[in-house]
Amino acid sequence: MPRRFEAEGVPVSLVLRGRELFAVHDVCSHSAVSLSAGEVEVEVDRCTVECWLHGSRFDLRTGRPLDPPATRPVPVYPVRVADGRVYARLAPPSAG
Ligand code: FES
Repeated sequence: MPRRFEAEGVPVSLVLRGRELFAVHDVCSHSAVSLSAGEVEVEVDRCTVECWLHGSRFDLRTGRPLDPPATRPVPVYPVRVADGRVYARLAPPSAG
């Protein structure tokens, strides 16, 4: 389940998939709703977060939408865990 955090006014959704941690901008690029309210789909070679409103799935590694109606990627942020803390580099965001 994605967890929403806010850092310096930036909404970030953290998603733990197995031992991998992902940080994506917590706003859908289609209609500005929170992605952290969505479901995480885990497949062998794919991990996505699905927007709860219209169903677009976004690749957690790249932010790219995999389904319509979203056509623009969401920013993804480099993230790491050290000393029990999560660090995400929010600027500059990368997308797609
Ligand atoms: S609001 Fe997310 S796909 Fe439409």
